[in-house]
Amino acid sequence: MLATMRTKIIGGNWKMNTDRAGAAALSAAVAGAVKGVAGVETAVFPPFPYLLPVAEALKGSGVLLGAQDVYHAEKGAFTGEVSVGMLKDCGVGIVLAGHSERRHVMGEGDDLVNLKVRAALHGGLSVVLCVGETLHQRQVEETNHVNEKHVRLGLRTVTPEELRRVVIAYEPVWAIGTGKTATPDDAQEAHAHIRAVVGDMFGKEAAGALRIQYGGSVTAANARSLMGMPDVDGALVGGASLKADEFGAIVAAAG
Ligand code: PGA
Repeated sequence: MLATMRTKIIGGNWKMNTDRAGAAALSAAVAGAVKGVAGVETAVFPPFPYLLPVAEALKGSGVLLGAQDVYHAEKGAFTGEVSVGMLKDCGVGIVLAGHSERRHVMGEGDDLVNLKVRAALHGGLSVVLCVGETLHQRQVEETNHVNEKHVRLGLRTVTPEELRRVVIAYEPVWAIGTGKTATPDDAQEAHAHIRAVVGDMFGKEAAGALRIQYGGSVTAANARSLMGMPDVDGALVGGASLKADEFGAIVAAAG
């Protein structure tokens, strides 16, 4: 019954793709493609330099503007980093934290991810905390253990009030950008475990209200079966979010 109360949320993570004109065109096309789909929250996560033109193109569409990362310090000598305040100044309402490419390409650990999660929540943003196991970790049956660690450390000292602005994205690393999607049953099993961990930390009611997205090679063809599972509350979409029609079809599948 609780599952029906959770509004599905679809995010488009553009990663390091598009250019200035392409980002504006894609966001305008996404706004058009999701118009008329009721009862689904939609967000796009463009590269930092294109936040302002995308904000402009999304005006009045109801599509949330997201950022792919954030730094936890308020300001100062942190060359290359972007603060919560700067993102809010550009109209950002939601940020990714701990995406697997940040963890595995840039070497971010759970402690840094936790600092980012807390700073973003403290500043009033919503956060998508990304978790998920590598292929090796799955093969040695560490999936639940890894997800639990990412969730417990990522949400350390987050308050119950702040948790309402948290979404968790379960993104098995082996499924990201590979065309290999978790089966709906595998996704459901991981999501149920993540929800149980959040229940242990914050209580059953809070866990029942938390939205858990699946991410990893989501397409218009597989979105419906994944989101049909009881604990799958949306999708974080990479490659397929770069085509407005396909992304719109995924949003429609959640509606
Ligand atoms: P993908 O990326 O859909 O291209 O697999 C998902 C993600 O990294 O968020």
